[in-house]
Amino acid sequence: MLLFADTADTKLLTELAETGLIDGCTTNPTLIAKSGRNMAEVIKEICDIIEGPVSAEVAAIDAPTMIKEGEKLAKIATNVVIKVPLTLEGLKATRELSSQGLMTNVTLCFSVNQALLAAKAGATFVSPFVGRLDDQGADGMQLIHDIRTLYDNYDFDTDILAASLRTPAHVQQAALAGADCATLPAQTFKDMFRHPLTDKGLETFLADWAKTGQSIL
Ligand code: E4P
Repeated sequence: MLLFADTADTKLLTELAETGLIDGCTTNPTLIAKSGRNMAEVIKEICDIIEGPVSAEVAAIDAPTMIKEGEKLAKIATNVVIKVPLTLEGLKATRELSSQGLMTNVTLCFSVNQALLAAKAGATFVSPFVGRLDDQGADGMQLIHDIRTLYDNYDFDTDILAASLRTPAHVQQAALAGADCATLPAQTFKDMFRHPLTDKGLETFLADWAKTGQSIL
């Protein structure tokens, strides 16, 4: 399972990338706005930090302009993935961009039918938003399970990129549901390393080791 960082904060991304465990990055207009920086500059910098797929989202809502924006974003670096909203126009754009051999990430996916259409449009990735479904009282993780079943039933190549994940439990459940990738906020990634029994066990080991008076080096 690939782990992507859901951020446009390049300082934070550099810190996460030092673990060697970040396979890609996703951004959206909200994250770009939060960075306070020029989008093209941020995406270029992210692509210099991360070798894997880096999602950059179009801002237009009509297919012809989305295509133009996508082609421009794809010129920033070879690992740019053009992120397109899951609308009729978005899927028309996805079909065209995919036919040009460009990578696409169809975002704002909230239903199995939408995921079916994204796969038929040739999307490289589909991004079902787990947390935002949970926010509405729905079962966001069930959508990941259902899309996995759908894609396996028909051998679709589109990768499931579990998005809008808010907790380490979300990541764990998405992995067990068979998501191909998960994108997560920096804090969620950091929280994945933690377990109270690890902290407690290490404390005991260090105390016992100190009693031996030994040094490995
Ligand atoms: C990533 O591709 C999505 O834009 C992101 O995960 C959305 O997360 P949010 O629902 O927490 O804003």
